[in-house]
Amino acid sequence: MHRLAVFASGNGSNFEAIVRACEEGTLCAEVVLMVCDKPGAGVVERAARHGVATFVFSPKEYGSKADYEREIVARLDAAGVELVCLAGYMRIVGDVLLGAYAGRMINIHPSLLPAFRGAHAIEQAFEYGVKVFGVTIHYVDAELDGGRIIAQRAFPYEGHDIGELESKIHAVEHPLYVETIGKLLKEKDKK
Ligand code: GAR
Repeated sequence: MHRLAVFASGNGSNFEAIVRACEEGTLCAEVVLMVCDKPGAGVVERAARHGVATFVFSPKEYGSKADYEREIVARLDAAGVELVCLAGYMRIVGDVLLGAYAGRMINIHPSLLPAFRGAHAIEQAFEYGVKVFGVTIHYVDAELDGGRIIAQRAFPYEGHDIGELESKIHAVEHPLYVETIGKLLKEKDKK
């Protein structure tokens, strides 16, 4: 059984999709820690519902990014985490976390990277008049939404309803994230 951590800052629909896949046996893994930088975020409630251990913190209570990342690394190490999955974690990962987990940390982003990096990718692509939308999963490096791409899935959308578009993106994200994690874990098993 592989040991995963999921990081999130908001709603947590991707977190829950990963947890469900573990519970249902689609993934031969367990989410052993959920890390959240926003006390009160929806993801905290979802973690409680599924009985997932959490580390929820307020960055402003720490002197620096390095300080809270040291605490995160200690908790990841203590939980024996093999793969860190960022799922709407809206912070740039710093040197401390990257130093410990580079190559073992992936992120999901709601655009076809390298287009539309950052926190408002869906709105920006929509306003730009994009006709083919998509989702990217990539390794995490020091750049915002940078790092080598592992998987992408595209779909055409020419409608005018951003709410509908967001729902379509989430519907692509959840299975793509689960499938990609599954592939990475299988590759790890072969080594
Ligand atoms: C997802 O759409 C994810 O791709 C995006 O945040 C959303 C989180 O939704 N991430 C980024 O924009 C990263 N730059 P969720 O909390 O419901 O999983």
